[in-house]
Amino acid sequence: MSSTSPAARWRVDDVPTPALLIDPTVVERNLARMQGYATEHGLRLRPHTKTHKSVHVAARQIAHGAVGLTVAKAGEAEVMARVEGCDDLLVAYPVFDPARRDRVAALARGGLTVRVGVDSALAVDLLAEAARAHDVTLGFLVDLDVGFRRTGVQSAAEAVALARHVDRTRGARLDGVMFYAGHIKARPTEQAASLGSVATLLAEVLDAWHASGLRAPIVSGGSTPTALQSHALPQLTEIRPGTYAYQDMNGVRGGHCALDDCAASLACTVISTAVPGKVVVDAGSKTLTSDRNSLFSDSGFGHVVEYPQAKVVRLSEEHGELDVTSCDRRPKLGDRVRIIPNHICPCVNLQDRAWLLPDEGAADGYLQPLPIDARGRLS
Ligand SMILES: Cc1ncc(COP(=O)(O)O)c(C=O)c1O
Repeated sequence: MSSTSPAARWRVDDVPTPALLIDPTVVERNLARMQGYATEHGLRLRPHTKTHKSVHVAARQIAHGAVGLTVAKAGEAEVMARVEGCDDLLVAYPVFDPARRDRVAALARGGLTVRVGVDSALAVDLLAEAARAHDVTLGFLVDLDVGFRRTGVQSAAEAVALARHVDRTRGARLDGVMFYAGHIKARPTEQAASLGSVATLLAEVLDAWHASGLRAPIVSGGSTPTALQSHALPQLTEIRPGTYAYQDMNGVRGGHCALDDCAASLACTVISTAVPGKVVVDAGSKTLTSDRNSLFSDSGFGHVVEYPQAKVVRLSEEHGELDVTSCDRRPKLGDRVRIIPNHICPCVNLQDRAWLLPDEGAADGYLQPLPIDARGRLS
C-alpha cells in the first residue's frame, strides 16, 4: 500500500510529534484477512470508513474486494463517493435534518447506489421526500436493535411495519435489514451464546418479513469484535466492520486481535521527567482522546510500544503522563515513544493527517502523508 501523495521530507525520527503513524504493511494484512474471511463465507464486505476516514485506505478496501463502503454522516458519504471503484454507499445512521437528507439524496444523482439505515417512519418520509426532489430512489435498510440498545426497531412486528412503510413510499426502495451488535465484546471463542440470540431474533424478523411478502436481499451486520464469527449468523449477507483496518488496544485487550495487528500508533516525545516516577509525553486527550479501554477501564490510555510496563495513567489536553515505576528502564527527556490508542476511530478524527511508514525495505525511509479526508465531517 502506498499513498499517491508526494513524499514528505520527514522520517520517523524527526517528524513533528505527536504524529499518527500508520504501518501500510499491517493495514494491507488486516484488509486481506477480513476480505479473505468474507469471501470464504460467501459474505459481502462493506467496511465502515469511520475508522480511517481516508479515501486512499477506502480505495484499498475496494481493491481487496469490498462491494461498497459504509459511513455514518452525510459529509463522510460525500468524501467516500470520490473513492475510485466505489459505486455503492450505505449511510448506517439515522439521517434526519433537512440539510443532511438533501445531501444524501443528491449523492444518488450521479448513478451511485445510496442506502440509509432507518428506525422510524418519519426518517423514511423525510428522506424519500428528498429523494423525490432529486428524482432518485434511495435504498432503505430497517435498523433492528439486536441488544446494543442504541438505535433500531424493537420487535419483528415493528420491523415489518417499518418495512411495509418503506415498500409503499415513492422514492424509497426496501433493501433489507441492518443491525449493529456493539454489545458483543467477548472473545471470539466466547460469543456463541450471544450470537445465538441474535440469530434467533433475525430468524423471527425475517420469517415475519417474508410471510408479509416483503423482500430482504440485504441482511447487514458485523462489528470488528464479531466479524470473524459472522458465519454463526446464517442470515447475514454482508458485514460492515470498520476498526479492523487499523485495530487498537480495545481489540487487543478484548482478545479480538494481536498487538501486531495494530497498524496505528502515535509517535510522541518525552517533554518532562521532573516529577519522580513519571514521564510526560506531548500527546494528551487532544491527541489520544480520553477513551478508556472498553473492557479494562483501569488499564490506562493506551499501550506504550517500547515500554510495555509503562502505564498512561493520566491525560490533560496536551500532556500524557506515564507511570514508569514498573519499568526496568525508562525513556529519557527528548526520547520518542509510540502509543497505541485504546480507541483508534475518534483518535484519527482528531488529527489533520496521518503518516504512512515507509514500506518494509524502502530505501529512502521517508514518511508519506496520508490525508484524513473525512476528518471532522460530523454532519
Ligand atoms: C452502525 C455501525 N456499523 C458498523 C460499525 C463498525 O464496527 P467496529 O467499529 O466494531 O468495526 C459501527 C461502529 O461504530 C457502527 O456504528
